[in-house]
Amino acid sequence: MLRIGNIVLPFPCVLAPLSGVSDLPFRLVNRAFGAPLAFTEMIDVRAISQRDKRTRKMLSSTPDDRPLGVQLLSNDEKYILSALDALSEYHYDLLDFNAACPTPKVTRKNKGAALLREPRKLGEILKVLVDHAKVPVTVKIRTGWDEDSVNAREIALYAEDAGISALFIHGRTKTQGYSGVVDYRHIKEVKDALKIPVIASGDNTSAPLIKKMFDETGCDGVAIARGALGNPWIFREAARFLQDGTVIERPNMDERIATIKKHLDLTIEHNGEQRGIGIFHKFFIWYTRGLRGTKPLRDKAFRTGTKSGLLDAIEELRMHDTM
Ligand SMILES: Cc1cc2nc3c(=O)[nH]c(=O)nc-3n(C[C@H](O)[C@H](O)[C@H](O)COP(=O)(O)O)c2cc1C
Repeated sequence: MLRIGNIVLPFPCVLAPLSGVSDLPFRLVNRAFGAPLAFTEMIDVRAISQRDKRTRKMLSSTPDDRPLGVQLLSNDEKYILSALDALSEYHYDLLDFNAACPTPKVTRKNKGAALLREPRKLGEILKVLVDHAKVPVTVKIRTGWDEDSVNAREIALYAEDAGISALFIHGRTKTQGYSGVVDYRHIKEVKDALKIPVIASGDNTSAPLIKKMFDETGCDGVAIARGALGNPWIFREAARFLQDGTVIERPNMDERIATIKKHLDLTIEHNGEQRGIGIFHKFFIWYTRGLRGTKPLRDKAFRTGTKSGLLDAIEELRMHDTM
């Protein structure tokens, strides 16, 4: 169990926010295999206030897509307040603030991981959010800007003081980006310093690695990110492994195909056929990763440009062994 404010999750492994990935269909597919909480991708608060079509789509949800966290990107309280106003038009259960994104396009504007260098300012922003939001507020941080300025503990204490309900930490520095080893030690340091739940991120890509994250850091929950790409079954596998150490079988081809088709249907329903197929390209690649000899099939799938062509290609997967 994992409690974040008034939200009680029966299982402590949640689906992490993934920019360009975490749309409604992706969230629903992962929920079907046990993800008890999912997030939108990070959304700039100014885009929320502007209510443009793309942002509306990112925020759209359905009753079976709950509880839902909306992840905010900003560095300025005044834009946050007007975004909160605009957000009253949507259904969501939690607000997460991004102080972790390492992309130069983001950090150059002093947002995302750039705020790791300004713990006091980050604390002030979080306080404004906590004071005005009607749902629990959380923050996502990294261990620090770079190896020489690791300050996760200090940041976490400022964030806790601001009144947040839980803290997410990706166990890498901004400079590391998404590679290099995850630092369990610094996650543990943060966990030991805080009273609120700490949810750990970084290389939670298999049930044993997820267990290792819990064991090494004492964290209250984990966030699964790249491990869920083309692999929603990770939630089911982690649940069983954490429960009694059983390594369950990987999904067979029938289940893989049914899941891929379901994900495609949802994507087309959400975006229309033409756009949906374009969006689904990357998901098809992830689903077929590790399936021998599927490269020609991937090329074929996307030359067709139609749902029926793509369905034929998905059916052809039956001829390929799972790894
Ligand atoms: C393609 C991609 C997009 C991401 N987008 C976000 C995002 O919008 N917000 C966020 O907090 N983290 C984002 N992350 C970071 C992940 O949530 C996660 O913390 C990170 O990938 C480490 O976990 P992993 O090693 O298990 O993938 C992103 C990561 C990737 C690979």
